[in-house]
Amino acid sequence: MKEPKKRIMIIGCTSGIGKALAELSLEQGLIVGGVGRNEAQLKEMAKAHDRQFFAQVADIRHTTGLNERLDALAERMGGVDIVVVSSSISRKNPDLLFEIENDVLQTNIVGYAAALIWAARFFLKQGHGHLVGITSLAKFLGSKNPAYTASKAFESRYLDGLRLRLAKTGITVSEIMPGFVRTPMTEDQEKMFWAISPERAAKCILKAIGKKKQKTVISRRWKPFYWILPHLPFRLLRYFLV
Ligand SMILES: NC(=O)c1ccc[n+]([C@@H]2O[C@H](COP(=O)([O-])OP(=O)(O)OC[C@H]3O[C@@H](n4cnc5c(N)ncnc54)[C@H](OP(=O)(O)O)[C@@H]3O)[C@@H](O)[C@H]2O)c1
Repeated sequence: MKEPKKRIMIIGCTSGIGKALAELSLEQGLIVGGVGRNEAQLKEMAKAHDRQFFAQVADIRHTTGLNERLDALAERMGGVDIVVVSSSISRKNPDLLFEIENDVLQTNIVGYAAALIWAARFFLKQGHGHLVGITSLAKFLGSKNPAYTASKAFESRYLDGLRLRLAKTGITVSEIMPGFVRTPMTEDQEKMFWAISPERAAKCILKAIGKKKQKTVISRRWKPFYWILPHLPFRLLRYFLV
């Protein structure tokens, strides 16, 4: 008997890694549900992939009503097997304005956790599912944009906690840790190296999802950094980042 098509919901699918992942998933015949604030982009994707791509406008910072929006999308998709949370922002903040820090924290911490919790509860109800969070290797470092790297550390620990909480269920929790990827987020980033395209990142992510890997560094050449970065002395970090 033919296996039913897998259904993947990508939260943060309108740009960069999430968009490339949506496009690759569509190419591979998956049913895709896409979430983001950019309504025009979502409409365009839905128009190009009628009955295979389902769009939902949502701002994850607005947690009131988020569950209802994601429930509605899941229903239109006919169910969900995989949820990928890719939504995050990074902001330069030379004047250390709290409003800017707060925007990053509301998105990458409050909104990100709200999306993960929705997915965990949805999967608990159905008894199976695969929850995937995109964090970053930057989670190991302090940086001159403290809110971003600190929020990535939060996301990572949150996923670890959910993995423990859901250990005796049929739910897998995975973390994807990219190095540099050329996306709108890194457009004005100086000193990038070993940067890969979002398409390549998407390929690595789908492969890791297929293998149900708990933790994956992408791309492969960044793997040693998973072990090195947590032990980097501050003096060295200061030399490279200041
Ligand atoms: N690019 C890199 O080098 C790199 C490296 C390590 C980790 N990462 C991680 O990879 C993930 C994707 O990053 P990217 O480089 O692809 O960035 P990106 O191109 O800026 O895409 C970010 C995505 O997040 C969504 N998003 C932002 N705020 C949102 C909100 N309030 N509500 C809902 N969705 C929101 C955006 O959609 P809307 O604007 O439509 O809302 C967009 O689809 C992030 O978690 C990032 O931290 C990236």
